[in-house]
Amino acid sequence: MKFFIDTANLDEIREMNDLGIVDGVTTNPSIIAREGKDLKQTLIQICEMVNGPVSGEVLALDTEGMVKEGVEISKWHPNMVVKIPLTQAGIGAVAQLSKMGIKTNVTTVYSASQALLAAKVGATYVSPFVGRSDDVLMDGMRMLRDICEVYRVQGIKTQVLAASMRTPTYVVEAARAGADVATIPYATMKKMFWHPMTDVSIDDFMKDWKNAMGDAKIL
Ligand code: G3P
Repeated sequence: MKFFIDTANLDEIREMNDLGIVDGVTTNPSIIAREGKDLKQTLIQICEMVNGPVSGEVLALDTEGMVKEGVEISKWHPNMVVKIPLTQAGIGAVAQLSKMGIKTNVTTVYSASQALLAAKVGATYVSPFVGRSDDVLMDGMRMLRDICEVYRVQGIKTQVLAASMRTPTYVVEAARAGADVATIPYATMKKMFWHPMTDVSIDDFMKDWKNAMGDAKIL
């Protein structure tokens, strides 16, 4: 499974990208607004840092406006993916952008029927929001599994991008469901490294070494 990072913070992206664990980046208007910087400049900086797809979301809510903004965003860098919300207007926009060969990420998806519509108009990615589904007492992971299964049975090429990943367990379950990508917030990505027994074990090794070997080193 590919890992995208769900942030526009350049320090967070750099830290994880330098480790070699970032395959792409996703943003949304809230994430961009949090950084308080220019949208275009921020997205171009991210594209220059990460060698992979970078999603930038349109702000218009009508089809014509979304298409115009999508065409503009797609010109900013060859790795730009145009993020479009799943509405009737959004599906119309994705249909037009697909015909122009522009890559899209259909976002704010909460059901398999919505995911089928995104696939029908040739979306490159579909983004089911798992955590936000759980927020309103839906079973987000079940929704993700449904989408993965329906796509598999139908041989659909649109990639499932599991979004709103709140904990490392969400990422593991998304992998188990067969999602192509998980887009992971920085805080969740940091938690994926950690296990208390890892710390205890390393501590044990270092103590045993020091007791028997003193200050002996490899280099
Ligand atoms: O990728 C979806 C994300 O940007 C929104 O979800 O969990 O941050 O509310 P969340």
